[in-house]
Amino acid sequence: MLYNSCQEIDNFLNYLLFTVSTAFYEFINFGKNNEKKKEEDKKSKDIIILIKNMHKWYGDFHVLKNINISVKKKERIVICGPSGSGKSTLIRCINSLEEHQRGDIIVDGIKLTNDLKNIEQIRTEVGMVFQHFNLFPHLTILENLTLGQIWARKTPRKEADEIAMYFLEKVHIAEHAPKFPGQLSGGQQQRVAIARSLCMKPNVMLFDEPTSALDPEMVKEVLDVMISLARDGMTMIVVSHEMGFAKSVAHRVLFMDDGEILEQNTPENFFENPQNERTKLFLSQILD
Ligand SMILES: Nc1ncnc2c1ncn2[C@@H]1O[C@H](COP(=O)(O)OP(=O)(O)OP(=O)(O)O)[C@@H](O)[C@H]1O
Ligand SMILES: [Mg+2]
Repeated sequence: MLYNSCQEIDNFLNYLLFTVSTAFYEFINFGKNNEKKKEEDKKSKDIIILIKNMHKWYGDFHVLKNINISVKKKERIVICGPSGSGKSTLIRCINSLEEHQRGDIIVDGIKLTNDLKNIEQIRTEVGMVFQHFNLFPHLTILENLTLGQIWARKTPRKEADEIAMYFLEKVHIAEHAPKFPGQLSGGQQQRVAIARSLCMKPNVMLFDEPTSALDPEMVKEVLDVMISLARDGMTMIVVSHEMGFAKSVAHRVLFMDDGEILEQNTPENFFENPQNERTKLFLSQILD
């Protein structure tokens, strides 16, 4: 009898111990899983551009092949690669200037489709600066900066003027506001083009070889503006062969060839320890 009671107590204690330890284990793991989930959620919220298995063709020509990129907020990426490798096409796809045929491009949670409203939405997120400035020659610098604000954003003219002057000051060119683009140097025109994009308050800026059409003495003034944008925390994707800029400003350098991203790395590893033979060849050509 006494033995049976002891046995029951023992069984009960074992059961209690088992239940408590299981609950404790689950509690600890729940905490861990919760932390892991929070971490994953935070990471996905930090991603502003996500490109998944993206392909593009021009007719039969397969110009972009299985592109996968994720860009975090405030991240700065430099894309380099030989002529014709698809760098411009890639960043034009991010801005909906070109259609892609397969895969996904998601910008700040907006998935790119070819519907016009969607394109408008993307353009408010993403600003773009081209190699050849693309300013309207018959409009003054100030008008070039207010046009988009007034027509696309419906900003009242007075406010649009104020915003324009703020950004012209930021790129150190406010005194040229009443002039026409043809009266400015290439470097000055490119700074105007950057200011014009900033007026639309984009979350991401794309640059397609912004300094390659400039005389060498004007390259620095444009790069300085881009460096100050980087300091302000702008998310940037820059197609450029300015390797000094890439080394000092980029978080990551991507190398493209023949429509593919062949290599990506931190600038230190990219320049000092390139892995792919084609990256090595490309770097030996541009760094000589
Ligand atoms: N509208 C188009 N129609 C057909 N083919 C095109 C079109 N635009 C570009 N291509 C081709 O797509 C390929 C990639 O062009 P892209 O302009 O993206 O190259 P890139 O890397 O920017 O070159 P670069 O360094 O010379 O600017 C090239 O072979 C080009 O000839
Ligand atoms: Mg190009």
